[in-house]
Parts: sequence; C-alpha cells; structure tokens
Amino acid sequence: MKIHSSVPAFGIDVLDKGHERLFDLERRLLSFCGKGLPTCENCSADTQDECEKPFSELLEELLVVMWEHFRDEESLMIHLPPEPAQAHKYEHAEISKVFSSLMTHGPQTRLLHNRRELVKILGLWLHDHIERWDMPLARQIKRNTAELIQ
Ligand SMILES: [Fe+2]
Ligand SMILES: [Fe+2]
Repeated sequence: MKIHSSVPAFGIDVLDKGHERLFDLERRLLSFCGKGLPTCENCSADTQDECEKPFSELLEELLVVMWEHFRDEESLMIHLPPEPAQAHKYEHAEISKVFSSLMTHGPQTRLLHNRRELVKILGLWLHDHIERWDMPLARQIKRNTAELIQ
C-alpha cells in the first residue's frame, strides 16, 4: 500500500480540489489523537468517550466530501468511452457501499481505536483509487481538451 504525502496534481481543477479536500480530511483523521498515540489502549474510558464524537463527525465529513467528489468526477466521465466510465462509476459505488455500511455498523469507535486499520482503508479508498482510476480519467480529459484546442 502506498501512502502519498502530497496530493496528486492533474491540472484539472475539479479533480485536484476534491482530492485536496479528501487528503486534508485523511490527514486530520490520521493525526486525530491529540496525544499522538497510535491506539486508545492507554487512555481512560472518559478520554475515549470524549474523542468518539468529534472523530465520528470527521468520518461523516469525509463521507460527504467523498460523495460530492464522486459526483463531480462522474460528471467529467463524458470524456471516457462507456465501458471505462461504467467501471469507474462502479468502483465509486463500491467504495460508497463499504464506507456507508461501516458507518452504520458503528465502526467509528473501532477505527478510532485502531488507526492502523484506518490507514489501510483510506489507503485503498483514496490512494489506490486515484492511481488506478482517476489518473487515466485525467489523462483522457487532457487528451480530449488538447484535441479541441488544436
Ligand atoms: Fe474516481
Ligand atoms: Fe477522485
């Protein structure tokens, strides 16, 4: 799993801005613990309770921003042939499904308690997806735009 420290810049505003917001939320989630601890093991029950609400809110914010971003990205898929566009949309739907089901089954506490799992999930959802799906989309948009200019 690759974790990129910087946001990929495709030179396409809508994509880059969406990814920037997602990376920012990822950073905030991963550095959520004010004490910089990787797990909650050594914190009192009261401290853990205090952390849960803001942590859940941050996760919910990530979900909303992710949906908005998927919608923006899908509006650009007119640049793709039907099959890759469908496959990319399918990936978005799968990510949304997994994330929503995690949220409804109360994963917040578990993810707060195990940030290593959070790193893994975000790595798959954000970084791998961008590399596998968003990068070819950006390339195609640029190709089409360059053809239009010529
Ligand atoms: Fe995407
Ligand atoms: Fe994306």
